[in-house]
Amino acid sequence: MKGKILVTGGAGYIGSHTVVELQNAGYSVVIIDDLSNSTADSIDGIERITGTRPVFVKLDCNDLDGLRNLFASHPDIKGIIHFAASKAVGESVQKPLLYYRNNLNSLINLLDLMPQFDIKNIVFSSSCTVYGEPDVNPIDETAPVKPAESPYGNTKQINEEIIKDFVRSGADIKSIILRYFNPIGAHPSAELGELPNGVPQNLVPYITQTAIGVREQLSVFGDDYNTPDGSCIRDFINVVDLAKAHVIAIDRMLEDKSQDKVEIFNLGTGRGVSVLELINVFEKVSGTKLNYKIVARREGDIEKIWADPKHANNVLGWTAKENIDDTMNSAWKWQLKLREKGIM
Ligand code: NAD
Ligand code: WQD
Repeated sequence: MKGKILVTGGAGYIGSHTVVELQNAGYSVVIIDDLSNSTADSIDGIERITGTRPVFVKLDCNDLDGLRNLFASHPDIKGIIHFAASKAVGESVQKPLLYYRNNLNSLINLLDLMPQFDIKNIVFSSSCTVYGEPDVNPIDETAPVKPAESPYGNTKQINEEIIKDFVRSGADIKSIILRYFNPIGAHPSAELGELPNGVPQNLVPYITQTAIGVREQLSVFGDDYNTPDGSCIRDFINVVDLAKAHVIAIDRMLEDKSQDKVEIFNLGTGRGVSVLELINVFEKVSGTKLNYKIVARREGDIEKIWADPKHANNVLGWTAKENIDDTMNSAWKWQLKLREKGIM
């Protein structure tokens, strides 16, 4: 065993895929999750894929005493991957205090306890949302952080600052901040995937739910952008590729490979794909015709953004490997599996 890693939000979409990769790489994992946006089914999925059931404790990261007890019962935790957060952009506009409370307190509690329990390493889930509308694409980590478009986006910016300030204050910790572009797809086994609560806000679950008949029609938000086909462009990154980067980040910190106490990496493919292109790919790999219509732009949408992932490629030795066809196919297989199980 390589060591024990605490994964907050490990029952969620990206967290559960990351736990699989951590276990495959020889780490033992403790998951904490309050199941506010997930179910414990993902723990079963992780066990079916890896043959190992991670330790799972239902716990809210806002519960400082609960966290303290958790760390006391696992004194051998070597690092933390902090996924737990509320993540719906629209909801964050409606309920800003919920977002500030959950996303800021969770991190503060963890940082507060890390020195007390001699835990030196934390990976933080950030987002390309910190870049706003880029002045240039592809965008690298030296680009300025733009004023946040939503309370959710603001929590990511503030969390990055909290980590930097804590390190600046002399805290004996290291952090790797990972800025994800648009994670999509599912585990190829279809044992894990994205299962949003209620009506999906993100494109890919909306596509697959429409194709399977749970939603009637996908609305494509705008075809009058300054892009080749008029629809928005994103950097869609396969969730398993993304998960693997976390294992590399943890290895890097535990092996003390970096001089810097805080490092920031973009996690994207480096390729921009438009919304309409993605729909075409989906129709091709699924063999279905998607019912969609073009509607007005969605307020606050970025026109085009894709990553310059060279920093992660060169320094972490990580590259996104999966192609978009296989990724969309994995999302479709996951949706079919949900249907088979009668979940959706
Ligand atoms: P998710 O909602 O599937 O997973 C987050 C998990 O955290 C859920 O299981 C939820 O129940 C749990 N959680 C929330 N608040 C908690 C708390 N206070 N205590 C314990 N558990 C709590 O979301 P995801 O897509 O897997 O995202 C993981 C992280 O990556 C989040 O921080 C998110 O902001 C970030 N991120 C996601 C995306 C994306 O598009 N999915 C993009 C960029 C960044
Ligand atoms: C992608 C494209 C939509 C749904 C969000 C967050 C961001 C980050 C990733 C966490 C856009 C279009 C979508 C639909 C559509 N998350 N679309 N019809 O907006 O890039 O980013 O998730 O950090 O912070 O803002 O992702 O999947 O919502 O949209 O046409 O029903 O698909 O307009 O162009 P987005 P998304």
